[in-house]
Amino acid sequence: MAETFLIGALVPNDAAAVRYLAASLRRWFSPADLRAIDALLKKNVAGWVAHDHAEENNKHTLVGFLLTAPTPDPLVREVAWMGVDESWQGRGVGTALLDRAVASAAADGMRELEVSTVAASAGYAPYEATRAFYHARGFVDRRTDRDYYWPGGDRLLLRRIVASGQMDAVVAHSDSAGLPGAPDDGG
Ligand SMILES: CC(C)(COP(=O)(O)OP(=O)(O)OC[C@H]1O[C@@H](n2cnc3c(N)ncnc32)[C@H](O)[C@@H]1OP(=O)(O)O)[C@@H](O)C(=O)NCCC(=O)NCCS
Repeated sequence: MAETFLIGALVPNDAAAVRYLAASLRRWFSPADLRAIDALLKKNVAGWVAHDHAEENNKHTLVGFLLTAPTPDPLVREVAWMGVDESWQGRGVGTALLDRAVASAAADGMRELEVSTVAASAGYAPYEATRAFYHARGFVDRRTDRDYYWPGGDRLLLRRIVASGQMDAVVAHSDSAGLPGAPDDGG
């Protein structure tokens, strides 16, 4: 198996492979989840995909996907669904997909990314690693909705700031060396 992967924007031709990969993640996605993913794909949703980089036969297999969706708040975009092939998990694919989604959201003037996942209180082990992934990548718990997915299957809603304006402010500040009050510790 190739060790590297390529990230690109989701195109309509990726839809079948996204459905296939999502269906393989049985511990995480229920039949109802798969129907929701399918419905989103039919709407020509925006998103990002990762393919393995198999130079030997020039055949690229989908190894990860991240689908985004608008929310009622025009400054908040949802990471609606994401998944990485089990044999590729823990190798940076999810982080690379999320980095693209964050950069794209920032470029589009978004303030935050939102994501929903199964809460710890649901007691379902496969989502422990998923929550660890989001927490380690800047998402902060915002709300828990009881019995959202199934009786006892509480939902955790998380958000992460993406606004590029804050980064611009830091750059502008360091560009202003010599101004009264500017820090001079050299970083
Ligand atoms: C959650 C998910 C998208 C993360 O993608 P990934 O490519 O495995 O993540 P990365 O390799 O970029 O990052 C690894 C991190 O994710 C977490 N992680 C999640 N699943 C993991 C796994 N099977 N193996 C290792 N780390 C995993 C770890 O906390 C790890 O943190 P670390 O880098 O600080 O050690 C992916 O594991 C996945 O598809 N999980 C099943 C489906 C799912 O939960 N989707 C999200 C629905 S809300």
